[in-house]
Amino acid sequence: MTDAHNQDLTARTGSNLYPATMRQQFGDLSLELDVPEGVWNPTPHGIHLGNMLMKLDFSNEHVLEIGTGCGIHAILLAKRGAREITITEINSETNANAVHNLRKHGVEIPIHQQVADWIHIEGANHQGGPWDTLVTNPPTAKAGKHYRRYFHDTLILDAHKLVKPGGRLIFINSSMIDISRTIALMEECAMTVRILGETSGPFRDYYFEDDQYMLEMARIPGAYQMIDGVHHERLVVFEGRLPESAAP
Ligand SMILES: C[S@@+](CC[C@H](N)C(=O)[O-])C[C@H]1O[C@@H](n2cnc3c(N)ncnc32)[C@H](O)[C@@H]1O
Repeated sequence: MTDAHNQDLTARTGSNLYPATMRQQFGDLSLELDVPEGVWNPTPHGIHLGNMLMKLDFSNEHVLEIGTGCGIHAILLAKRGAREITITEINSETNANAVHNLRKHGVEIPIHQQVADWIHIEGANHQGGPWDTLVTNPPTAKAGKHYRRYFHDTLILDAHKLVKPGGRLIFINSSMIDISRTIALMEECAMTVRILGETSGPFRDYYFEDDQYMLEMARIPGAYQMIDGVHHERLVVFEGRLPESAAP
């Protein structure tokens, strides 16, 4: 949970890139994450994904996490048994901050860092890749793309270049970008789809500041639900298991 000081900052900036110390409990694990200015502060999406990762076993796996942010999920992957983790981000400072948080929480396994534009990751066929599992919380509300599903669709379409045959793609999806399209695309790419868990939560204030986003979600059946006059989104964590053979 963010403390009162951090909540003030959220209200002031309307953005998730403010400096904060974020405290969050995952089972009996207490995290205290240092998040400098310019690094994404975990939201309910990231926390829900974290709760689902805590139920999984990554023993002896080399996991790839794309868009690690402050490293919240990388820490959980290590605590759940990962042997090695490759993290990516849009700049080296963010990766370095994630490594700082990993080491602060006693993670000693090898952490490989890459500055990479989404799925364009070096080493997909050497230096660790293809990976056993790929984990990510893709940009959505702040995707900065005209095509909102860009990060989700490219991830699903190119997962076979990054993940071993039979390996896993684990990511979170909001109902606001159409869960049914996500499931259909994963199945069209021959993945075995499993829902690891879902939750729902109220819109973040900055959704209402983006007229285009509000318009897009108004067109998607089931994009949100009104509960006591408050917009709520569904948050679904998917596991897509890649086929044992043949790229899609
Ligand atoms: C929704 S945030 C998730 C951050 C973190 N995993 C979490 O859950 O708190 C998406 C992250 O992807 C990163 N990102 C955005 N565009 C990217 C790109 N083209 N390639 C790699 N990472 C990107 C952002 O910097 C941001 O940290």
